[in-house]
Amino acid sequence: MRIVSGIQTTGNLHLGNYLGAIKQWVAMQDALAPGEDAFFFLADLHALTVTLDPKLLADTTIEMAATLLAAGIDQDRAVLFNQARVPEHSELCWILGGTARMGWLNRMTQWKDKAGKNREGASVGLFTYPVLQAADVLVYRATHVPVGEDQKQHLELARDIATKFNTDFEVDLFPLPAPLVSQAAPRIMSLRDGTAKMSKSDPSDMSRINLIDADDAIAQKFRKARTDAEPLPDSFDALGERVEARNLVTVYAALADRSPQSVVEEFAGQGFGSFKPALADLAIAVLGPIRERLVRLLDDRTMVGAELAKGAAKARAVAAPTLRAAQEAVGLQV
Ligand code: TYM
Repeated sequence: MRIVSGIQTTGNLHLGNYLGAIKQWVAMQDALAPGEDAFFFLADLHALTVTLDPKLLADTTIEMAATLLAAGIDQDRAVLFNQARVPEHSELCWILGGTARMGWLNRMTQWKDKAGKNREGASVGLFTYPVLQAADVLVYRATHVPVGEDQKQHLELARDIATKFNTDFEVDLFPLPAPLVSQAAPRIMSLRDGTAKMSKSDPSDMSRINLIDADDAIAQKFRKARTDAEPLPDSFDALGERVEARNLVTVYAALADRSPQSVVEEFAGQGFGSFKPALADLAIAVLGPIRERLVRLLDDRTMVGAELAKGAAKARAVAAPTLRAAQEAVGLQV
């Protein structure tokens, strides 16, 4: 098993990233058997498709790396680095650009959502974004990719690209990477709108819990979270279309490593006036120690940068032979 996953360096890491991805990354890193390995990276090249602020990109990359270290990613067990330091990602991306089809990329929902009606004005990078994402994974010949549900389509595209490349060039170079979507938290929703996913790009900071948020901000955001006036039923299924209620119960269950059913049973008959403070206390107990480690790490940004450089050297050692094999397969003289 070889695990690979990444996170785009735009904005703050939030509870959706933590429960949907990072928590799994840490658990998988801790469960690696001998001979297995894990690569986690900051997708700073992907951020270029939407970010125009160099200082912000540089700061965010270090801050996110510090957050991952604070959340338990450990350079002795996994490899943590930033994508830009491993040029093999970009080089393989270009080669795979010959394999990926316009029609495949045109169908990507993220492209459709982000470009909106202004396709002519969208950046080329936004369109080819999923090809770089495929290269991110295939350059390590990854077998498993832990992600939230929103990334499943991009992973399916990576599989299509891998299959076509292997077939076109009659090689067995790329294994098909399997997406591993968190069962507990596949899609955490915004605290302001239970039909929108919690996202770094939501203009309202009240819509998400950031991993850097202070305890009182966490409590306030849950207190103000949108809900309904009904008490909790005694079965999770009975929540039906109460999307905000389902989301808060899901968050509680994922934070506590419990099933949503056991959570509704505990709070059955109670309203959000009592559920929300309990949820806030739980979130503070889980996230508080991560934030404290993060704040300490941010005092030594040079050290965090050095960790990324160290990880990149290890990543390149694995990525370079795959790139070389891909170059040979397509006939490039290098
Ligand atoms: P990004 O940066 O949007 O999100 C990072 C990870 O967090 C998950 N996630 C969520 N999970 C549950 N609920 C949510 N509300 C939520 N929001 C985000 C995402 O699914 C993801 O796993 N394109 C990717 C970054 C990327 C990548 C890769 C991922 C670049 N290359 C290669 C995997 C493999 C992205 O923008 O994720």
